[in-house]
Amino acid sequence: MAKNDITIILAPLQGFTDVTYRNVFSDHFSGVDEAVAPFISTMGQMRLKPSRIKDVAPENNKKLFVVPQILGNVAEDFIFLADHLYRMGHHKINWNLGCPHSKIAKKMRGSGLLLFPDKIDAFLDTVLAKIANKLSIKLRLGRKSKEEIFKILPVLDQYPLDEIILHPRTGIQMYEGASDHDAFEKALLSSRHPITYNGDISDLNSFHIVQKKFPLIKRFMIGRGLLSRPFLAEDIKGIMTVENQIKRLKDFHDDLFDSYQKIFSGPAHLTGRMKGFWNYFGLSIKQSKKPLKKILKANSIAKYQAMVENFFKTNPEFIE
Ligand SMILES: Cc1cc2nc3c(=O)[nH]c(=O)nc-3n(C[C@H](O)[C@H](O)[C@H](O)COP(=O)(O)O)c2cc1C
Repeated sequence: MAKNDITIILAPLQGFTDVTYRNVFSDHFSGVDEAVAPFISTMGQMRLKPSRIKDVAPENNKKLFVVPQILGNVAEDFIFLADHLYRMGHHKINWNLGCPHSKIAKKMRGSGLLLFPDKIDAFLDTVLAKIANKLSIKLRLGRKSKEEIFKILPVLDQYPLDEIILHPRTGIQMYEGASDHDAFEKALLSSRHPITYNGDISDLNSFHIVQKKFPLIKRFMIGRGLLSRPFLAEDIKGIMTVENQIKRLKDFHDDLFDSYQKIFSGPAHLTGRMKGFWNYFGLSIKQSKKPLKKILKANSIAKYQAMVENFFKTNPEFIE
């Protein structure tokens, strides 16, 4: 049965879910309703990075509704970028308070800011008075401890937010351990804002576990699960056709390859990007280890293409 009351959001995955991926994805698969784009860092002195802005340009994003994400902690720089995005047509933006990487966190950006509820308060006080865009926040349970969120949520309650997207891990956990469903539930009960679930939905079974535990949640953000099984959103919504899954993956792969070939200058850049996708495809394909290893070892475009051809000749099958 089609599940129409569920919204599926493609997660921002820096180095993967850029505008090229989002457009090719939309040509091949359905079920994803919107996307949050990989973060754009704020820059000082009223500067913008054109390549990052291009990623969210509305004229390039007609196939899938996209919400730009900003990473930064200086209110003035954030307002400058948010204003620019608003003038481009982005009435919704997202603030990244989840990035776990220590280089970023040390600079009090991403999950690094979760240790400082007062700074978040002062930032939102300044920013929300000045921007015209609706703001959502994507965050983790904390930087070091999953209790930190209970000092953050009362701060967020004071402000009008579009939504909170919660990935229930701490920053220092990176992607270790399981998403903490009990902590997510506690957070859900402690916020007045609508909350979107994000974390470890990798197949239908893991989706059903989350859905059963949180029957009131209707918005789900999925990242690595969609990279690995691009028809996962179709499966969740009951609109997937079981036939030709591998052919669909191959057609999708070939289109991705052609599209990136047009924009990447060096061969290593192209094969590097494509190998990144194979690391995820490989997770949901049966007995893919050996042929996959050969793809990942390919050191030229010709070799890469031959190894991909070889992979599809082994009659691969998706794990159910
Ligand atoms: C390679 C990679 C890049 C990511 N880039 C971003 C990003 O730019 N912004 C962000 O908020 N989260 C980013 N994330 C986190 C994901 O959006 C998501 O929160 C996380 O992967 C958990 O969801 P999942 O289990 O469905 O993948 C990234 C994660 C990975 C693995």
